[in-house]
Amino acid sequence: MRTIAVLTSGGDAPGMNAAVRAIVGVTCGLGGTVLGVRHGYQGLIAADFQPLTPAAVDGWNRRGGSVLGSSRSLPFRTPEGRAQALDSLAAQGVEDLVVIGGNGSLAGARALAASARDRGQALRVVGIPASIDNDIATTSLSIGVDTALGTIVECCDKILDTASSHARTFLVEVMGRDCGYLAMTAAVATGADGVLYPEARLGEDEILARVAAIVRRAYVPEDGRHRVLIVKAEGVALPVETLRERLDAQLQSEGLAVETRSVVLGHVVRGGAPSATDRLIAGRLGHAAVRALLDGRDQVMTAWHPPPLGEPPGDALALDPYVRLVPLDRVLRETDAIAAGTHPIAAFRAKLLAAAEPFLAV
Ligand code: F6P
Repeated sequence: MRTIAVLTSGGDAPGMNAAVRAIVGVTCGLGGTVLGVRHGYQGLIAADFQPLTPAAVDGWNRRGGSVLGSSRSLPFRTPEGRAQALDSLAAQGVEDLVVIGGNGSLAGARALAASARDRGQALRVVGIPASIDNDIATTSLSIGVDTALGTIVECCDKILDTASSHARTFLVEVMGRDCGYLAMTAAVATGADGVLYPEARLGEDEILARVAAIVRRAYVPEDGRHRVLIVKAEGVALPVETLRERLDAQLQSEGLAVETRSVVLGHVVRGGAPSATDRLIAGRLGHAAVRALLDGRDQVMTAWHPPPLGEPPGDALALDPYVRLVPLDRVLRETDAIAAGTHPIAAFRAKLLAAAEPFLAV
């Protein structure tokens, strides 16, 4: 049996620890050993390893953040940094690596595999998608998304309480980098009046006009709700406070006395104990990652992919019909296309702008 190294990288996501715990449980159960890497690729360069046993990771399924630590390592982006990382693995006799992280981390895994190939070092890498943004292609969910969504909805519900009490308009910005998924799904779940997301590609003036229209409708004296909640994705370039100031000026010029507030939820959205769904997905993707490595698979990502009802799973690991192994090349190519707006998913989200009116009028 082999030694598997595991690291978490990039923005932490609730459920990362649950994935590590599963990797340790499965590997040790099959007679292997696991080395945790502290602080992502930065720790790999520094050979900062921590042996992990089932007892050491007990309870990690319940813990938020990354217990191993994470980083966005600049040195790892250089050939010299990756060579040091490969030296660290070779010194430990490790030929199997699991990378738990988002887009940049998975790209790092592929780059490390290429560097290993160039110098003739044996290395298999398997990625596990973990990012609250849900911006990784070919997996229906990434680890952390469900918990982040729950946190946003809980925050928005609370903001709605105070918005109703004071008859105010709130603009709430949520994380998601360039991806509108969290904002869009949270807006539906919390019953927001509008959502601003980058895939819609609206200009500043159009955003302002649409938000102002929602506010006007909400404050009709007889039948208005007399409060507004707009959820804005951080990927929409217009800063939320700038939007609020422009909205204020617009409403004042119309003689509409409405108090407005802006809130940026920021890193609150990334924290907290993982939801049951995130624990479940993390456990099963972690299990599949070990099975894939033992099966000799290389440069693949474990994707969460529930098969359509009544249809047999595609290329799923025989042991888990909800998990597929997707080549990292394909994952990264499609993820880039989503960010560039050329992927069908991005086009679909853009189309929703028209389809969703008048339910979500922004
Ligand atoms: O990718 C996850 C994420 O939380 C994004 O939503 C956000 O844009 C970014 O990370 C923030 O990164 P940092 O914590 O490095 O500021």
